[in-house]
Amino acid sequence: MSVDLIDLHPTPDDLQQLVEEGLRKTPRQLPAWLLYDAAGSQLFEEICAQPEYTLTRTEISLLQERAKEIATSLGSGVIVEFGIGNTRKVAPLLQTIQPSAFIALEISRSALENTLQDLDDAHPGINMLGICCDHSNLQSLPTHPWLEGQRRIGFFPGSSLGNFQPKEAVAVLARFRQLLDGGPLLLGLDQPRDPAQLEAAYDDAAGVSAAFARNLLHRLNRDLQGSIEPERFAYRASWQEAQQRIEMALVSRCDQTLQLANTRWHFASGETLITEHSVKYSPQAAAELVAQAGWSIRQRWHDSDDNLSLHCLEPSD
Ligand code: AVI
Repeated sequence: MSVDLIDLHPTPDDLQQLVEEGLRKTPRQLPAWLLYDAAGSQLFEEICAQPEYTLTRTEISLLQERAKEIATSLGSGVIVEFGIGNTRKVAPLLQTIQPSAFIALEISRSALENTLQDLDDAHPGINMLGICCDHSNLQSLPTHPWLEGQRRIGFFPGSSLGNFQPKEAVAVLARFRQLLDGGPLLLGLDQPRDPAQLEAAYDDAAGVSAAFARNLLHRLNRDLQGSIEPERFAYRASWQEAQQRIEMALVSRCDQTLQLANTRWHFASGETLITEHSVKYSPQAAAELVAQAGWSIRQRWHDSDDNLSLHCLEPSD
Protein backbone atom coordinates (compact mmCIF):
# COMPACT_ATOMS: atom_id res chain seq x y z
CA MET A 1 0.00 0.00 0.00
CA SER A 2 1.27 3.57 0.26
CA VAL A 3 2.43 6.32 2.55
CA ASP A 4 1.01 9.83 2.23
CA LEU A 5 1.51 13.03 4.19
CA ILE A 6 -0.63 16.12 4.69
CA ASP A 7 1.46 19.01 6.02
CA LEU A 8 -0.65 21.63 7.78
CA HIS A 9 2.57 23.56 8.54
CA PRO A 10 2.12 23.97 12.30
CA THR A 11 3.68 27.28 13.36
CA PRO A 12 6.25 26.89 16.13
CA ASP A 13 5.33 28.65 19.38
CA ASP A 14 7.44 31.63 20.33
CA LEU A 15 9.98 29.83 22.53
CA GLN A 16 11.30 32.94 24.25
CA GLN A 17 7.81 34.11 25.21
CA LEU A 18 6.83 30.64 26.50
CA VAL A 19 9.99 30.34 28.58
CA GLU A 20 9.67 33.83 30.04
CA GLU A 21 6.02 33.16 30.98
CA GLY A 22 7.07 29.94 32.69
CA LEU A 23 9.95 31.56 34.56
CA ARG A 24 7.67 34.29 35.88
CA LYS A 25 5.31 31.74 37.47
CA THR A 26 5.51 30.83 41.14
CA PRO A 27 6.79 28.16 41.32
CA ARG A 28 8.60 28.44 38.01
CA GLN A 29 7.41 25.86 35.49
CA LEU A 30 8.04 25.21 31.79
CA PRO A 31 5.78 23.25 29.40
CA ALA A 32 6.66 19.53 29.41
CA TRP A 33 6.84 19.29 25.62
CA LEU A 34 9.99 21.47 25.68
CA LEU A 35 11.82 18.40 27.01
CA TYR A 36 11.54 16.67 23.63
CA ASP A 37 14.21 18.10 21.34
CA ALA A 38 16.25 15.48 19.45
CA ALA A 39 18.49 14.73 22.46
CA GLY A 40 15.49 14.73 24.85
CA SER A 41 13.56 12.28 22.66
CA GLN A 42 16.60 9.98 22.64
CA LEU A 43 16.91 10.23 26.44
CA PHE A 44 13.19 9.46 26.82
CA GLU A 45 13.72 6.26 24.81
CA GLU A 46 16.50 5.38 27.28
CA ILE A 47 14.19 6.10 30.25
CA CYS A 48 11.71 3.59 28.80
CA ALA A 49 14.44 0.91 28.96
CA GLN A 50 15.38 1.57 32.62
CA PRO A 51 14.44 -1.22 35.06
CA GLU A 52 12.58 1.22 37.36
CA TYR A 53 10.41 2.68 34.55
CA THR A 54 8.00 -0.13 33.74
CA LEU A 55 5.21 1.87 32.05
CA THR A 56 6.23 1.32 28.41
CA ARG A 57 7.08 -2.38 28.76
CA THR A 58 3.89 -3.06 30.74
CA GLU A 59 1.71 -1.29 28.20
CA ILE A 60 3.28 -3.09 25.23
CA SER A 61 2.76 -6.48 26.96
CA LEU A 62 -0.84 -5.62 27.79
CA LEU A 63 -1.53 -4.56 24.20
CA GLN A 64 0.08 -7.74 22.86
CA GLU A 65 -1.68 -10.06 25.32
CA ARG A 66 -5.16 -8.55 25.01
CA ALA A 67 -5.07 -7.44 21.37
CA LYS A 68 -7.99 -9.67 20.32
CA GLU A 69 -10.33 -8.52 23.10
CA ILE A 70 -9.32 -4.91 22.58
CA ALA A 71 -9.91 -5.16 18.84
CA THR A 72 -13.36 -6.66 19.41
CA SER A 73 -14.25 -3.84 21.79
CA LEU A 74 -12.99 -1.13 19.42
CA GLY A 75 -14.64 -2.58 16.29
CA SER A 76 -13.51 -1.87 12.75
CA GLY A 77 -12.34 1.38 11.19
CA VAL A 78 -9.19 3.34 10.49
CA ILE A 79 -6.80 3.89 13.44
CA VAL A 80 -5.92 7.49 14.34
CA GLU A 81 -2.96 7.90 16.73
CA PHE A 82 -2.48 11.24 18.46
CA GLY A 83 1.28 11.83 18.45
CA ILE A 84 3.63 9.30 16.96
CA GLY A 85 4.65 6.95 19.69
CA ASN A 86 6.52 3.70 20.05
CA THR A 87 5.61 1.63 16.97
CA ARG A 88 5.54 -1.52 19.12
CA LYS A 89 2.37 -0.20 20.77
CA VAL A 90 0.22 0.19 17.68
CA ALA A 91 1.58 -2.98 16.00
CA PRO A 92 -0.74 -5.47 17.81
CA LEU A 93 -3.75 -3.28 16.90
CA LEU A 94 -2.70 -3.09 13.25
CA GLN A 95 -2.24 -6.86 13.14
CA THR A 96 -5.59 -7.64 14.78
CA ILE A 97 -7.87 -4.92 13.42
CA GLN A 98 -6.26 -4.87 9.96
CA PRO A 99 -7.54 -1.35 9.23
CA SER A 100 -7.48 -0.03 5.66
CA ALA A 101 -5.43 2.93 6.94
CA PHE A 102 -3.37 4.13 9.90
CA ILE A 103 -3.35 7.89 10.47
CA ALA A 104 -0.84 9.62 12.74
CA LEU A 105 -1.15 13.24 13.90
CA GLU A 106 2.25 14.61 14.85
CA ILE A 107 3.94 18.01 15.01
CA SER A 108 7.38 16.81 13.88
CA ARG A 109 7.45 16.09 10.14
CA SER A 110 10.71 14.14 10.31
CA ALA A 111 9.38 11.90 13.13
CA LEU A 112 6.23 11.27 11.07
CA GLU A 113 8.10 10.42 7.89
CA ASN A 114 10.54 8.05 9.60
CA THR A 115 7.94 6.25 11.69
CA LEU A 116 5.40 5.85 8.90
CA GLN A 117 8.07 4.41 6.63
CA ASP A 118 9.00 1.86 9.33
CA LEU A 119 5.32 0.99 9.87
CA ASP A 120 4.79 0.64 6.11
CA ASP A 121 7.69 -1.81 5.89
CA ALA A 122 6.23 -3.87 8.75
CA HIS A 123 2.54 -3.67 7.65
CA PRO A 124 2.57 -3.52 3.86
CA GLY A 125 -1.22 -4.12 3.56
CA ILE A 126 -2.18 -0.90 5.39
CA ASN A 127 -2.15 2.65 3.99
CA MET A 128 -0.12 5.02 6.19
CA LEU A 129 -1.19 8.66 6.39
CA GLY A 130 0.70 11.30 8.35
CA ILE A 131 -0.90 14.61 9.28
CA CYS A 132 1.80 17.07 10.32
CA CYS A 133 -0.08 19.38 12.67
CA ASP A 134 -0.53 20.66 16.20
CA HIS A 135 -3.71 18.77 17.05
CA SER A 136 -4.56 21.31 19.75
CA ASN A 137 -5.37 23.74 16.90
CA LEU A 138 -7.48 21.30 14.89
CA GLN A 139 -11.30 21.44 14.72
CA SER A 140 -11.64 18.45 12.38
CA LEU A 141 -9.40 16.07 10.44
CA PRO A 142 -8.51 17.23 6.92
CA THR A 143 -10.30 15.45 4.08
CA HIS A 144 -8.47 12.54 2.46
CA PRO A 145 -9.78 9.57 0.43
CA TRP A 146 -8.47 7.12 3.08
CA LEU A 147 -10.63 8.80 5.72
CA GLU A 148 -13.77 9.19 3.66
CA GLY A 149 -16.74 7.27 5.03
CA GLN A 150 -14.49 5.43 7.52
CA ARG A 151 -15.28 4.95 11.18
CA ARG A 152 -12.39 6.38 13.26
CA ILE A 153 -10.70 4.58 16.15
CA GLY A 154 -8.50 6.85 18.29
CA PHE A 155 -5.32 5.68 20.05
CA PHE A 156 -3.60 7.65 22.83
CA PRO A 157 -1.32 5.31 24.80
CA GLY A 158 1.64 5.88 27.13
CA SER A 159 -0.23 7.79 29.82
CA SER A 160 0.72 10.92 27.88
CA LEU A 161 -2.51 12.43 29.18
CA GLY A 162 -0.87 12.42 32.62
CA ASN A 163 1.56 15.13 31.50
CA PHE A 164 -1.32 17.60 31.17
CA GLN A 165 -2.91 19.37 34.13
CA PRO A 166 -6.31 17.72 34.75
CA LYS A 167 -8.24 20.70 33.25
CA GLU A 168 -6.15 20.58 30.09
CA ALA A 169 -6.55 16.79 30.00
CA VAL A 170 -10.34 17.20 29.85
CA ALA A 171 -9.95 19.66 26.95
CA VAL A 172 -7.63 17.23 25.13
CA LEU A 173 -10.11 14.36 25.51
CA ALA A 174 -13.01 16.57 24.37
CA ARG A 175 -11.03 17.55 21.28
CA PHE A 176 -10.25 13.91 20.48
CA ARG A 177 -13.98 13.17 20.74
CA GLN A 178 -14.65 15.86 18.14
CA LEU A 179 -11.85 14.69 15.82
CA LEU A 180 -12.98 11.06 16.03
CA ASP A 181 -16.50 12.02 15.02
CA GLY A 182 -18.41 9.38 17.01
CA GLY A 183 -15.67 6.71 16.98
CA PRO A 184 -14.10 5.13 20.09
CA LEU A 185 -10.78 5.98 21.76
CA LEU A 186 -8.25 3.55 23.26
CA LEU A 187 -6.62 5.45 26.13
CA GLY A 188 -3.67 4.29 28.25
CA LEU A 189 -3.32 5.61 31.81
CA ASP A 190 -0.80 4.95 34.56
CA GLN A 191 -2.20 4.49 38.08
CA PRO A 192 -1.14 5.56 41.58
CA ARG A 193 0.92 3.01 43.55
CA ASP A 194 3.67 2.84 46.17
CA PRO A 195 5.25 6.36 46.14
CA ALA A 196 8.76 4.93 46.55
CA GLN A 197 8.26 2.83 43.41
CA LEU A 198 6.97 5.83 41.47
CA GLU A 199 9.75 8.12 42.67
CA ALA A 200 12.33 5.54 41.58
CA ALA A 201 10.65 5.26 38.16
CA TYR A 202 11.13 9.01 37.68
CA ASP A 203 14.61 9.19 39.21
CA ASP A 204 16.35 6.01 38.03
CA ALA A 205 19.66 4.85 39.49
CA ALA A 206 21.46 5.28 36.16
CA GLY A 207 20.60 8.98 36.17
CA VAL A 208 18.80 8.99 32.81
CA SER A 209 15.72 10.81 34.15
CA ALA A 210 17.99 13.47 35.66
CA ALA A 211 19.85 13.84 32.35
CA PHE A 212 16.48 14.14 30.56
CA ALA A 213 15.44 17.03 32.83
CA ARG A 214 18.86 18.74 32.64
CA ASN A 215 18.78 18.45 28.85
CA LEU A 216 16.07 21.13 29.01
CA LEU A 217 18.73 23.54 30.30
CA HIS A 218 21.08 22.58 27.45
CA ARG A 219 18.21 23.26 25.06
CA LEU A 220 17.58 26.70 26.57
CA ASN A 221 21.29 27.51 26.31
CA ARG A 222 21.28 26.53 22.65
CA ASP A 223 17.94 28.03 21.53
CA LEU A 224 17.93 31.16 23.69
CA GLN A 225 21.66 31.89 23.87
CA GLY A 226 21.66 31.02 27.57
CA SER A 227 24.41 30.95 30.16
CA ILE A 228 23.04 28.18 32.37
CA GLU A 229 25.39 25.69 33.99
CA PRO A 230 23.14 22.59 34.16
CA GLU A 231 25.22 20.97 36.94
CA ARG A 232 24.30 23.86 39.22
CA PHE A 233 20.84 22.28 39.38
CA ALA A 234 20.01 19.06 41.20
CA TYR A 235 17.13 16.89 39.97
CA ARG A 236 14.21 15.79 42.15
CA ALA A 237 11.16 13.59 41.49
CA SER A 238 8.59 13.63 44.29
CA TRP A 239 5.15 12.10 44.76
CA GLN A 240 2.48 14.69 45.59
CA GLU A 241 -0.30 12.81 47.33
CA ALA A 242 -2.96 15.53 47.15
CA GLN A 243 -2.62 15.92 43.39
CA GLN A 244 -1.87 12.21 42.78
CA ARG A 245 1.12 13.11 40.66
CA ILE A 246 4.88 12.94 40.37
CA GLU A 247 6.49 16.34 40.19
CA MET A 248 9.81 16.53 38.36
CA ALA A 249 11.93 19.56 39.10
CA LEU A 250 15.40 21.03 38.84
CA VAL A 251 16.51 22.52 42.13
CA SER A 252 19.07 25.31 42.22
CA ARG A 253 22.13 24.16 44.19
CA CYS A 254 23.15 27.77 44.97
CA ASP A 255 22.18 31.42 44.61
CA GLN A 256 22.68 32.11 40.91
CA THR A 257 21.73 34.44 38.09
CA LEU A 258 21.10 33.02 34.62
CA GLN A 259 21.00 34.86 31.37
CA LEU A 260 18.54 33.82 28.63
CA ALA A 261 18.07 35.91 25.49
CA ASN A 262 19.20 39.14 27.18
CA THR A 263 17.07 38.66 30.32
CA ARG A 264 18.56 37.78 33.69
CA TRP A 265 16.80 35.41 36.09
CA HIS A 266 17.77 35.03 39.71
CA PHE A 267 17.44 31.61 41.36
CA ALA A 268 17.80 31.41 45.12
CA SER A 269 19.49 28.33 46.53
CA GLY A 270 16.82 25.59 46.77
CA GLU A 271 14.47 27.32 44.32
CA THR A 272 12.78 24.95 41.86
CA LEU A 273 12.06 24.90 38.17
CA ILE A 274 9.31 22.35 37.52
CA THR A 275 10.02 20.47 34.29
CA GLU A 276 6.87 18.31 34.22
CA HIS A 277 4.10 16.60 36.16
CA SER A 278 2.94 13.05 35.62
CA VAL A 279 -0.59 12.60 36.99
CA LYS A 280 -1.65 9.07 37.91
CA TYR A 281 -5.33 8.15 37.60
CA SER A 282 -7.06 5.59 39.80
CA PRO A 283 -9.96 3.74 38.10
CA GLN A 284 -12.43 6.11 39.79
CA ALA A 285 -10.45 9.24 38.88
CA ALA A 286 -10.16 7.99 35.27
CA ALA A 287 -13.93 7.47 35.03
CA GLU A 288 -14.57 10.97 36.40
CA LEU A 289 -12.01 12.55 34.07
CA VAL A 290 -13.33 10.97 30.88
CA ALA A 291 -16.95 11.72 31.85
CA GLN A 292 -16.13 15.43 32.01
CA ALA A 293 -15.03 15.24 28.37
CA GLY A 294 -18.16 13.40 27.21
CA TRP A 295 -16.75 9.86 27.18
CA SER A 296 -17.71 6.72 29.05
CA ILE A 297 -15.61 3.61 29.64
CA ARG A 298 -16.94 0.63 27.70
CA GLN A 299 -14.17 -1.73 28.77
CA ARG A 300 -10.98 -1.59 30.79
CA TRP A 301 -7.89 -3.84 30.80
CA HIS A 302 -5.03 -3.75 33.27
CA ASP A 303 -1.75 -5.54 34.00
CA SER A 304 -1.51 -8.18 36.75
CA ASP A 305 -0.48 -5.58 39.39
CA ASP A 306 -3.24 -3.18 38.26
CA ASN A 307 -0.67 -0.41 37.77
CA LEU A 308 -1.53 0.54 34.24
CA SER A 309 -4.80 0.42 32.37
CA LEU A 310 -6.13 0.67 28.84
CA HIS A 311 -9.66 1.96 28.34
CA CYS A 312 -11.97 1.62 25.40
CA LEU A 313 -13.93 4.89 25.55
CA GLU A 314 -17.12 5.62 23.67
CA PRO A 315 -18.96 8.93 23.37
CA SER A 316 -21.44 9.10 26.24
CA ASP A 317 -24.32 10.48 24.17
C1 AVI B 1 5.62 10.74 28.19
N1 AVI B 1 5.17 10.57 29.58
C2 AVI B 1 4.01 9.70 29.64
C3 AVI B 1 6.23 10.23 30.53
C4 AVI B 1 5.63 10.00 31.95
O1 AVI B 1 5.77 8.89 32.46
O2 AVI B 1 4.99 10.90 32.48
C5 AVI B 1 7.29 11.32 30.60
C6 AVI B 1 8.44 11.03 31.51
N2 AVI B 1 9.22 11.92 32.02
C7 AVI B 1 10.15 11.38 32.76
N3 AVI B 1 9.98 10.09 32.73
C8 AVI B 1 8.92 9.84 31.94
